[in-house]
Amino acid sequence: MNTSSTDALSIDGVRKAYGKVQALDGVSFNIRRGEFFGLLGPNGAGKSTLISIIAGLVRADEGRIGVLGHDTVRDWRSARRLIGVVPQELVFDPFFKVVDMLRIQAGYYGCGRESWPWIDEMLVKLDLESKRNASMRTLSGGMKRRVLIAQALVHRPPVVILDEPTAGVDVELRRTLWSFMSELHAKGTTVVLTTHYLEEAQDLCERIAIIDKGKVRVIETTAQLLNRHPFRFLRIKLANEGALPESLRPLVSGEKNGSIELRLDREKHPIGGVFTALRAAGLDLEDVHTREPDLEDIFIELTHDNSRPAVAGGAR
Ligand SMILES: Nc1ncnc2c1ncn2[C@@H]1O[C@H](COP(=O)(O)OP(=O)(O)OP(=O)(O)O)[C@@H](O)[C@H]1O
Ligand SMILES: [Mg+2]
Repeated sequence: MNTSSTDALSIDGVRKAYGKVQALDGVSFNIRRGEFFGLLGPNGAGKSTLISIIAGLVRADEGRIGVLGHDTVRDWRSARRLIGVVPQELVFDPFFKVVDMLRIQAGYYGCGRESWPWIDEMLVKLDLESKRNASMRTLSGGMKRRVLIAQALVHRPPVVILDEPTAGVDVELRRTLWSFMSELHAKGTTVVLTTHYLEEAQDLCERIAIIDKGKVRVIETTAQLLNRHPFRFLRIKLANEGALPESLRPLVSGEKNGSIELRLDREKHPIGGVFTALRAAGLDLEDVHTREPDLEDIFIELTHDNSRPAVAGGAR
């Protein structure tokens, strides 16, 4: 594998089984320094397992991971200091005050009072200032998530990994979080994100890996991923009652509010052919528009997961 010490993360042949479940089945890829990287996949794909192994919380059965060249097992102290992980699950001590929890976490990384101004800055950036002295158990779910984000960043790690940081949080926090992450990224921080909000990944991530059933299905730049599939959608609304011609029925990919969406292969199904077939069947069009595939279409195509992404945010 083309491993370079300049990579933020080098993941090499990682396998992990839980009993009979092969959560990771030989995962290898690199994340470059300074990248904004998306790790996507359906529920149970193995994303959190991989993140737990990177964070040193779970041991891989096989394979190695390097964080900026430091092995997460042999050189775990250095590796751990270089990453900040926002876990998917909200785990914290309910009796600590917000600011104390962050200061204690900083101390755990060997950072003393010099880290306090940064903690104060994060409290402002994440709109937590008013909760500074509140105890963790009194916070709402979204507020707790903000604290966990700050907690992962107390030691200013060069690599930040966020495991579904926006699951179940309001629009305002999502915006706050993304502008904060974009700011860190602009200053050179490597950001790795898992999310089921695919439009979020499409907007933010420079490169994306899609994993499914413990294997990497594809790893490409977001632009390549969006361009690699030679299909597009045609949405039509018929002006009169009538059955769709036999030849078009296999192309139907959805129906909504009286409109029919057809998935057209650019080579095999020219749009003109669709209009000809409709006219031949005596059907007139009231409305028509085309749509290019987005990340959600491509995700479904690659994972053959026809259920919607886990969180309603995937809805258009
Ligand atoms: N501690 C564990 N014990 C047993 N099985 C586990 C454990 N953690 C994960 N698994 C299993 O490993 C597989 C991968 O789970 P993982 O949590 O990594 O998926 P994920 O991609 O993060 O999914 P999601 O999108 O739902 O968060 C699943 O089949 C899961 O049930
Ligand atoms: Mg997960």
